[in-house]
Amino acid sequence: MEITEFFDALDLDDYLEEHGDLAVQSPLDGVEIARVSSHSNAAADEIMGKAETAFLAWRQVPAPKRGELVRLFGEELRKAKEPLGRLVTVECGKILQEGLGEVQEMIDICDFAVGLSRQLYGKSMHSERPEHRMYEQWHPLGPVGVVTAFNFPVAVWSWNAAIAAVCGDSMIWKPSSETPLTAIAVTKIAQRVLEANDAPPIFGLVVADRRVGRLMTADKRLPLISATGSVRMGKAIGQAVAERVGRSLLELGGNNGIVVSDSADLDQALRAVLFAAFGTAGQRCTTARRLFLHKSIAAEMKQKLVKATKSITIGDPAEEGVLMGPLINQRAVDDMMNALATIREQGGEILCGGEALDRPGFFVQPTIATATADMPITCEETFAPILYVFEYEDLDEAIAMHNGVPQGLSSAIFTLNLREAERFLAATGSDCGIANVNIATSGAEIGGAFGGEKETGGGRESGSDSWKIYMRRQTCTINWGTEMPLAQGVHFDVGE
Ligand code: UN1
Repeated sequence: MEITEFFDALDLDDYLEEHGDLAVQSPLDGVEIARVSSHSNAAADEIMGKAETAFLAWRQVPAPKRGELVRLFGEELRKAKEPLGRLVTVECGKILQEGLGEVQEMIDICDFAVGLSRQLYGKSMHSERPEHRMYEQWHPLGPVGVVTAFNFPVAVWSWNAAIAAVCGDSMIWKPSSETPLTAIAVTKIAQRVLEANDAPPIFGLVVADRRVGRLMTADKRLPLISATGSVRMGKAIGQAVAERVGRSLLELGGNNGIVVSDSADLDQALRAVLFAAFGTAGQRCTTARRLFLHKSIAAEMKQKLVKATKSITIGDPAEEGVLMGPLINQRAVDDMMNALATIREQGGEILCGGEALDRPGFFVQPTIATATADMPITCEETFAPILYVFEYEDLDEAIAMHNGVPQGLSSAIFTLNLREAERFLAATGSDCGIANVNIATSGAEIGGAFGGEKETGGGRESGSDSWKIYMRRQTCTINWGTEMPLAQGVHFDVGE
């Protein structure tokens, strides 16, 4: 299918520009599929100004009405699910099931946000002073800058956008330069819903490189920058936003581990590990990169894993039965090959995989390597399908190895032993933002708060009370009596 057909299906062909400066290539074959024009600094500045104006109007719309707009957007996503899911597959290379799943994640967060629009609750407190009332309320914050990565080209934006929208914020989305088409498609759908309902244009889009990203992070008109990407990028954004005492929500690298104990259901663990390690070609921030096997089951698990991994079908991600598509670009392939050379140097053994495929596009084999905790490469996030396998004797040792990396996003234990499960979830257990039992590290549901600790950045997006970062909290105290008592029992009696 030609790329223009997707745009026709989504009624977006007017966005493609024959002479645009940004060439978009499909990772399926490395061939250019479209050109778009990127925004200049001046254009980005104008878009930020428009977002500010839109915010001033949008913040006055009652939250449940804002929710209604998000509901209508969710309806449009339902209609566009098939072409949008296919476009995700073509542009970023994930298999169609996952492309469709990504659009489903957008629909789900819209539903969540609609309910939330009537539940932006503040607490009320009992004042220590007589005839006083205290409560807190949540107000819209302002235009939000949303920076997203190629690997979830639309879902991660929607976690931010649907929630920020019901919170009363406008936003400017800067997608990855690898995946502008899906971002254009989604923004166009969202803007159409706003226009049809005479709502202010709260969904802004800036297609640009890092220079414009830097402008956004430094701009005081954006009180919050929400960014997903590498630790290196997140540190730069975090520093720039802190410099102007703004807020940042960082969702950065993961180096996620799964512990498989001797009391685990090994078949269940096997199925879970395979998807977590090699689904999305290892390009999720929640991908399982480290596997800790109890010594007594290690040989059996390794053998089963290698056998199953070799049977993973690699190829055109739009084809039925294919489980692994390509990496995003040649650099990703090079990074993987460099990491594998380093593993070998540091004493690891490749149990299966390890090669790039000799065909157009950026296809690689899912790879399993043996590792020990003293191998520095295992402390890094290589965004590729490499699974490092460790062995352990007791759970304390496994948890120490598991926590001994700079990242802290997602984690899991497979065990049927209650004590082991609770030990893993205790304060002395996993140090990650997500900790699962008999579920692997990836594929989190939208209802929970999503994010991680340490170098992962500490931010939380999506469900639970993540909405609070998109609003400003105000504590209000009202004296409805005739006296003027001070708090803390202080007297300040001025003679009349
Ligand atoms: C990401 O890779 O940036 O939990 C997000 C998951 C998905 C989101 C991943 N729901 O794997």
